[in-house]
Amino acid sequence: MDDIVIEGLSWRYKDSDWILKDINLTIEQGKTLGIVGPTGAGKTTLCLALCGLIPKKTWGAIEGSVKIKSMDTRKTPFEELIPHIGIVFENPDEQLIEPSVEDEIIFPLENFGFPPEEIAKRLEEALKATGLDKIRKKHPGELSGGQKQRLAIACALARQPPILIFDETTTDLDPVGKSEVFSLLAQLRATKKLTMIIVEHNTAQLAQFADELIFLRNGNIIRRGSPSQFFCDVAFLKENGVYPPQVSEVFSEISCTYPNSLDKNQLPVTLNDAIQLLHEILDLEEISYNSVEIKDQLPSTSEVIIKAQDVRFTYPDGTQALNGIDLELRKGEFVAIIGNNGSGKTTLINHFVGLLKPTEGDLEVFGMNTKDVSVENIAQKTALVYQNPDHQLFCQTVFEECAYELKYSQSGRFSNEEIEQRVSEVLDVMNLTRLRNEQPFGMGRGLRQQLAVATALVKQPEIIIVDEPTTGQDASQAHSIMRILTEFNKKGKTIVVITHDMNLVSNYIPRSIVLNQGKIIIDSNTRDVYSHSEILKKASLTRPQVTELGNLLPHAPVILRIEELKDILSLKYDVKEAIAYDR
Ligand SMILES: Nc1ncnc2c1ncn2[C@@H]1O[C@H](COP(=O)(O)OP(=O)(O)OP(=O)(O)O)[C@@H](O)[C@H]1O
Ligand SMILES: [Mg+2]
Repeated sequence: MDDIVIEGLSWRYKDSDWILKDINLTIEQGKTLGIVGPTGAGKTTLCLALCGLIPKKTWGAIEGSVKIKSMDTRKTPFEELIPHIGIVFENPDEQLIEPSVEDEIIFPLENFGFPPEEIAKRLEEALKATGLDKIRKKHPGELSGGQKQRLAIACALARQPPILIFDETTTDLDPVGKSEVFSLLAQLRATKKLTMIIVEHNTAQLAQFADELIFLRNGNIIRRGSPSQFFCDVAFLKENGVYPPQVSEVFSEISCTYPNSLDKNQLPVTLNDAIQLLHEILDLEEISYNSVEIKDQLPSTSEVIIKAQDVRFTYPDGTQALNGIDLELRKGEFVAIIGNNGSGKTTLINHFVGLLKPTEGDLEVFGMNTKDVSVENIAQKTALVYQNPDHQLFCQTVFEECAYELKYSQSGRFSNEEIEQRVSEVLDVMNLTRLRNEQPFGMGRGLRQQLAVATALVKQPEIIIVDEPTTGQDASQAHSIMRILTEFNKKGKTIVVITHDMNLVSNYIPRSIVLNQGKIIIDSNTRDVYSHSEILKKASLTRPQVTELGNLLPHAPVILRIEELKDILSLKYDVKEAIAYDR
């Protein structure tokens, strides 16, 4: 039986061009459809149409039809559709309204009229699956970014509607948390035959989980297929802003070295497939490498600009978020802060800018103890981009947003010409010039995040701190933000990035600090950190596919990037250059 049938669907918002164009799609009951595509392709709009919010609750014009369980969404009252469908968006803040985690999950179940025993059972299952059982009494507003996303997911899981839509719902989850949510979804799919639609930039996760994938661009479906068909055309995907699973890319790149044993149209898409194939095509013991010396080139002599000494922090509700942090950051460093959801990352960087002050211990920024100086004083040299861009954008236009800080907080320091010049430059660097006069609130989350980064860069601060810069970005935008931050770093600026994207860390960030339960459990160069898989596991972090594959090669160094593994597997033994720690 088909759960969803879309025929000739086109849609435009009230004042927009056509966002969806003649979409035809059928999703069978119990199947999972993955949707990928660049930002602005129409993925969220398609999700809204799939659950009836378009056209029922949105202004615009529609052509064609969407049928959910044979009900035409144009003709059926929304209240009749709702029991059949659950949707979780990326930004959970808008969905969370109850006074506690528990209530947030229970309330919709009561509304749907489930009996109390059933509600109690589902509550426990959902809390356990999302790791929220220990903080069930907490106020949703006082959760960490990832915990909020977990709660929104828990609410959907507890309801178990026959059709479940996740629109970039797991972006802020730590990697292990993300895998756990997907395992639970797989279980539900097997036992309850749930139909799922998943919009996701993490293609490795999709490759494991989806039955079928579609590629959406400019409102059209331009590719469609099973994961193994879909991810074979690596060049096409990358040209269109989608990064295939790393294993597909590596094997695509080395296929000419093994013309007899590797078929470019049958590339591995999961780590397990890749491991099997690797054993088939190569005698791993036979591969040799130059012994590789990894140089640690972290700037160790420059001035210390942030120094934490036994910093502890307790929130008013009693949560001990930092439990004795000692660290030094030097001028010109590029540092990743990674770790479990709720491990204290955001709390820590709020200390770096003086927004939070240690309950115990001391934190110095540029030699100033943050307890003795005002936030404004510190803000002249530091810029923080929040995990949720909505917490910092409030102006009427993109230009005003960027100019605000220069005009008002540092009033009188810059002439109008200088402001114009600085803002124009940054908009250009961030590729936002075309949106100069747009309203920030009308833009998608990914663009708002980019704008938030722009407002930080325009200040030309000494330290730029970005909390989850890649949320809502497609892969090529995420890489482009990291390249921009790298450029600033090369100019001597200090960059601190919090992210759950372990591939980005390994590609761009030389030093990694891992937090777990408010403590640093390892702080070293990234290659060294990635060699400690047990420590990473404790922090719910997983290593990139290429690192795991590289780990199978006897005596090989820790592999961080696709090119490194590609060089080894294409039997180029001069890998020393590629692998030497190069920053
Ligand atoms: N305003 C608040 N009031 C009370 N507790 C809070 C508040 N903000 C965060 N916490 C708690 O403090 C701990 C650390 O939260 P923090 O936001 O620093 O984590 P994080 O590492 O940034 O997590 P994520 O990866 O989910 O963003 C968590 O247990 C969280 O629930
Ligand atoms: Mg956080």
